[in-house]
Amino acid sequence: MRKTIAMIEGDYSGPEVVREAVKVMKRTAEVFGHEFVFKKVLMGGEAIDATGVPLPDETLKECLASDSVLLGAVGGPKYNAVPKDKRPERGLLGLRSGMELFANLRPARVFPQLAAASPLKPEIVAAGIDFVIVRELVGGVYFGKHETTVENGRKKATDIMSYSEGEIERIVRVGFETARVRNKVLTSVDKSNVLDCSRLWSEVFHRVAKEFPDVEAREMLVDNCAMQIVRNPAQFDTIVTENLFGDILSDEASMITGSIGLIPSASLGSTSCGMYEPIHGSAPDIAGRNIVNPIGTILSGAMMMKYSFAMPEEAAAVEAAVNKVLDEGWRTGDIFSEGCKKVGTTEMGDLIAKAIKN
Ligand code: IPM
Ligand code: MG
Repeated sequence: MRKTIAMIEGDYSGPEVVREAVKVMKRTAEVFGHEFVFKKVLMGGEAIDATGVPLPDETLKECLASDSVLLGAVGGPKYNAVPKDKRPERGLLGLRSGMELFANLRPARVFPQLAAASPLKPEIVAAGIDFVIVRELVGGVYFGKHETTVENGRKKATDIMSYSEGEIERIVRVGFETARVRNKVLTSVDKSNVLDCSRLWSEVFHRVAKEFPDVEAREMLVDNCAMQIVRNPAQFDTIVTENLFGDILSDEASMITGSIGLIPSASLGSTSCGMYEPIHGSAPDIAGRNIVNPIGTILSGAMMMKYSFAMPEEAAAVEAAVNKVLDEGWRTGDIFSEGCKKVGTTEMGDLIAKAIKN
């Protein structure tokens, strides 16, 4: 099969991790007899530098026309002073909504080889950490009205959160479908003791639950969920939640697995064209020194093969290669421990590419 992939390298560490993911994807294509064609497009700070806007029309068009999109990370201190509508993050949000990628899947799984890197107590890790957060990605407060006004000489800021039944229904359904092919337990996370958006969310969740009698439907308040993720993460299989809660909980969930550098993500809509990116940011403090961990981006490539290209074996081959390299003791700095072998970003990519087997 031949697939075209729009490639957004992004800012700071972005290009370094994308380079390794492309290396591993090209090697996988070679081993399995496919052709992956990467086309570089600009978004975020890189696009601001070249065109003055974070999401050029051309980029959105190219992404929509491709079979999928691979993204490194955007943003960083260089762009902190630009006006809010021109920030690199606006490019990312514009791409998510322009492509209608309403479902964001963020797995949190501990690699057994890296259990010691988790900040949690060994007995909590040993109970098992393997769940996925299904985050709503194009609604809620991220896409509501934002404004800062002046009243009596003092500033006032407003951000509006709103959700329609339709928006909730489609993401909750992705939650149930995800849980159905995992361990069949779906936890809907909201703040229904305070927010109207959450009360509607809960109502829709219970209605959709009737279509999935084989999945156990649970509900949890977001503050409690934040606590349960560090107290007893083994209780979770699939979590479905709104945009902002998902943003916060997914950083927490990634950290308990040992390093945010390991976690991939998939953003999906109603077509097979999705966007795949590591959940870490552009890591400006460690960029350009060949030390960032490319595994989150490499595994994002694996998710692309699985969800956008219907290539489960190819995806499994990438995951197996990552496992093999970790088994052999190779580590980037963020996951390094005594007795292991420290390597840089490019070496990690080379080792994983070399380990791809059909
Ligand atoms: C993420 C990031 C983004 C978000 C930022 C960069 C806008 O934190 O993908 O989780 O808040 O969604
Ligand atoms: Mg985030």
